[in-house]
Amino acid sequence: MRKPVFAANWKMNYGPQETRGFLLKFLASYPPRDDRTVIFFPPAVSLAVAGFALRDRPDVLLGVQNIHWEEKGAFTGETSAQMARDCGATVALVGHSERRQLFGETDEMTARKCAAAARAGLTPLLCVGERADERDRGTTQPVVMRQLKTGVGRLEKTQLASMLVAYEPVWAIGTGKTARPEDATIVHSAIRRYFREALSGSADSVAILYGGSVNADNTAELIAAPEVDGLLVGGASLDVDTWTRIVST
Ligand code: 13P
Repeated sequence: MRKPVFAANWKMNYGPQETRGFLLKFLASYPPRDDRTVIFFPPAVSLAVAGFALRDRPDVLLGVQNIHWEEKGAFTGETSAQMARDCGATVALVGHSERRQLFGETDEMTARKCAAAARAGLTPLLCVGERADERDRGTTQPVVMRQLKTGVGRLEKTQLASMLVAYEPVWAIGTGKTARPEDATIVHSAIRRYFREALSGSADSVAILYGGSVNADNTAELIAAPEVDGLLVGGASLDVDTWTRIVST
């Protein structure tokens, strides 16, 4: 039985001061529990403050929203996996649909980023998901499987076995429309089958999260869906009381 994972993707919200205030308030109302994993993905400039705020709470993990695939060098504006690690991050989000759609990130770039994360000791959390037009054409599974296979293509088997995946249909992100739990299960099952084949049987260590308009009212039914091991939450993770309700579900 995998522990449910509740991950907050803050996107471009909350600088260092707001991050510190949020985390202190959250930690005060959320005592440590070992039956679930909570991860925060603040903006890169807030990572160091977040790492400090979380220093005594190993049950709450920290992640970076995006990394560059190189270790260092002339890449203005970018953050390396090692820099995020130095701040206390242990997870790296890779291939979020906003990175793909707004910043031109390709499947091949996600593969390099997953590999760079794993090399630096960060667990990659690869995001996959189809756009509305791809869903309407009936190509959800081919799109998701292409993103998945290419994205993990540079990982070793042991790295594959400990990674995280998030299925986030693009049409569900920030729209108030969620996938029906049974539809999420179909895609999650296909992802699980891929890992079972790639890992020759045991794919139980790979947590597959759902994301897209998750809120405090739909958390329970989504997390209960077969093959849904956790949730990746945007908007609803920005309010500390709502987020505390979600992770306490
Ligand atoms: P919303 O929860 O705001 O739909 O965002 C989902 C998301 O993109 C998380 O990565």
